Amino acid sequence: MGLEGKTCLVTGSSRGIGHSIAESLCQAGANVVVNARNTNDVQTVVNRLNQKNSGRVFGVVADVSRPDECDDLISRSVDEFGQLDVLINNAGIGIFESIEQLSLKNWKAQIDTNLLGVFVCSRLAIPHLLKTEGWIINIGSLACRNSFAGGTGYNASKFGLLGMTEAMMLDLRSKGIRVSIVMPGSVDTSFLDGDSKKWALTSDDVASATLHLLSYPRNAHPSRIEIRPSQPPSS
Ligand SMILES: NC(=O)c1ccc[n+]([C@@H]2O[C@H](COP(=O)([O-])OP(=O)(O)OC[C@H]3O[C@@H](n4cnc5c(N)ncnc54)[C@H](OP(=O)(O)O)[C@@H]3O)[C@@H](O)[C@H]2O)c1
Repeated sequence: MGLEGKTCLVTGSSRGIGHSIAESLCQAGANVVVNARNTNDVQTVVNRLNQKNSGRVFGVVADVSRPDECDDLISRSVDEFGQLDVLINNAGIGIFESIEQLSLKNWKAQIDTNLLGVFVCSRLAIPHLLKTEGWIINIGSLACRNSFAGGTGYNASKFGLLGMTEAMMLDLRSKGIRVSIVMPGSVDTSFLDGDSKKWALTSDDVASATLHLLSYPRNAHPSRIEIRPSQPPSS
């Protein structure tokens, strides 16, 4: 899909992977909706991207774990630009605790952000994406199919996301909407607490994979991309 003049909504795009994807889409000439929960962060990113790039940028503060706020996010995006071509469900959180430590609150926060939020945003976006033969891209993880200790909540949300994405793809492809998942390994963002990890992927690596995916012509549907660091530390 050519991105010039297209409207792309990236959830969780005030920093990290979502921010890199939003910036790359702007550089490619798309109109971009930036989203996160923190108002100042959204405003700062919108101002900065609007100064530097050819695409136009609009910000919507919304928490995707809250269905009413997803409704506001999708409707304000379409009101601003008149259409929606690409929804990138990127917003996600990870709370890495064993089953014995994981509280109901922290379980729910991960499921509601990483899974419910994707379901609700996608459902609300579908009527608009049908008109544009658009694309939904979910940012998964290698944790969509590799479990690890401390991943009870995160693995549950990401395994669920992979299954949901593939089912959505089968529901929607005959109707002209493509649905894909990008599954990165470790990415050097604030998501991973602690020191910067020089061996990890960068957010820009994940943005490149996402824009590459979007470059495929109408007849081709790359439905899953896995991307991992070339040289992780040996365990
Ligand atoms: N970093 C990794 O190693 C890695 C690897 C594989 C997959 N991923 C996936 O990639 C995605 C992005 O991760 P990241 O590393 O870029 O994380 P990050 O640096 O922590 O950025 C997360 C972004 O999402 C926003 N956000 C969080 N919860 C939200 C909510 N409920 N509603 C709206 N926005 C929300 C954050 O802003 P606010 O806090 O202001 O809302 C921020 O803009 C996630 O789905 C994650 O699971 C990450």
